[in-house]
Amino acid sequence: MFSGSNIVLCFLSLSLLSPVAISEKCHPQDKKVLLQIKKEFNNSSMLSSWNPHTGCCGWDWIVCHSTTNRIRWLTFQAPDVPNTRLVGHIPASVGNLPFLERLEFQNLPKFTGSIPSSIAKLKNLMYLTITETNVFGPIPSFLGQLKNLELLELSFNKLTGPIPSSLSQLPKIRSLYLRSNKLAGLILDSFGLFKKPSPDILLSDNRLSGPIPASLGQIDLERLDLSKNRFVGDASVLFGSKKRLQYLDLSRNLFSFDFSKVDFPKSLGMLDLNHNNIYGKIPVALTKVEDLGLFNVSYNLLCGNIPQGGYLHTRFDVFAYYHNKCLCESPLPKCK
Ligand SMILES: *[C@@H]1O[C@H](CO)[C@@H](O)[C@H](O)[C@H]1NC(C)=O
Ligand SMILES: *[C@@H]1O[C@H](CO)[C@@H](O)[C@H](O)[C@H]1NC(C)=O
Ligand SMILES: *[C@@H]1O[C@H](CO)[C@@H](O)[C@H](O)[C@H]1NC(C)=O
Repeated sequence: MFSGSNIVLCFLSLSLLSPVAISEKCHPQDKKVLLQIKKEFNNSSMLSSWNPHTGCCGWDWIVCHSTTNRIRWLTFQAPDVPNTRLVGHIPASVGNLPFLERLEFQNLPKFTGSIPSSIAKLKNLMYLTITETNVFGPIPSFLGQLKNLELLELSFNKLTGPIPSSLSQLPKIRSLYLRSNKLAGLILDSFGLFKKPSPDILLSDNRLSGPIPASLGQIDLERLDLSKNRFVGDASVLFGSKKRLQYLDLSRNLFSFDFSKVDFPKSLGMLDLNHNNIYGKIPVALTKVEDLGLFNVSYNLLCGNIPQGGYLHTRFDVFAYYHNKCLCESPLPKCK
């Protein structure tokens, strides 16, 4: 009985003490840097918890390492109150948080400026996310120096210029998301150098152009989204029965190749080719890709009958097939 109440007491004091303990923790060097960042943001109300008289490990937007107290995560996401959003640009001083593994700026429309070179100092960085901001300028090639980077998410910004070839040489990169920017130019042949198996590459809604390099067909991609760009030419290298590809969106480009000759990965679950100049027939082999849940070849130059007997004519409606040169059979009208 006695020891039981002791245990309860012990639990009570632990639960009372531990929040205090965390908020006392802070590495002095990191604290100095964070207070500098707060100053660069003109003491934004989003940083009101960043009180110099308390330990930084208890502050908002921060995660510390449990034993060293070094800052591991600095993740800013817009709070519900819009006028508290951060105004300004990515502070150069983030480069002075050497143990940072995750750095995020999300949904901060009043955030502008370019990506500072000091980020190249963050050798432990694994996840870098800058999305839904007004950050502009080029994607700097110095990001290629972040050898531990696994995810680079720079979607929905105002970034311009080419995709630097240095990104494909990041040895651990798995996820490269650069959607909805104003990126232009070619995908370089060096993209075939991606080392990690089955990376995800999402480049939709940019101004990328030209043919895709053959080397892109040599990476074992899991998801590839090149939609809403200005790519031309042959994309058949992306297909192949031995691949692990699950998601392929090439819609709204100027791709032109013979669809009759394409072999499909068994894993394919989504194939969107709408609005291109793809010609030939729909291969019967496609009826064997049983997990296909989304398929769209509308607005191309395809001809011949839609393979019947499988699920192609039942699972997908007219709008998956309409506006081709001379496609026919269910769900479209019968061939003449
Ligand atoms: C931010 O707050 C600090 C401490 O309260 C103050 O000294 C400094 O002048 C403030 N800076 C701005 C830009 O408001
Ligand atoms: C901070 O305040 C100064 C002086 O008022 C101003 O010039 C600067 O643009 C402000 N910076 C931000 C990020 O709001
Ligand atoms: C296929 O794409 C066309 C053109 O964008 C669109 O109108 C149609 O709704 C899509 N159909 C399906 C089933 O996704």
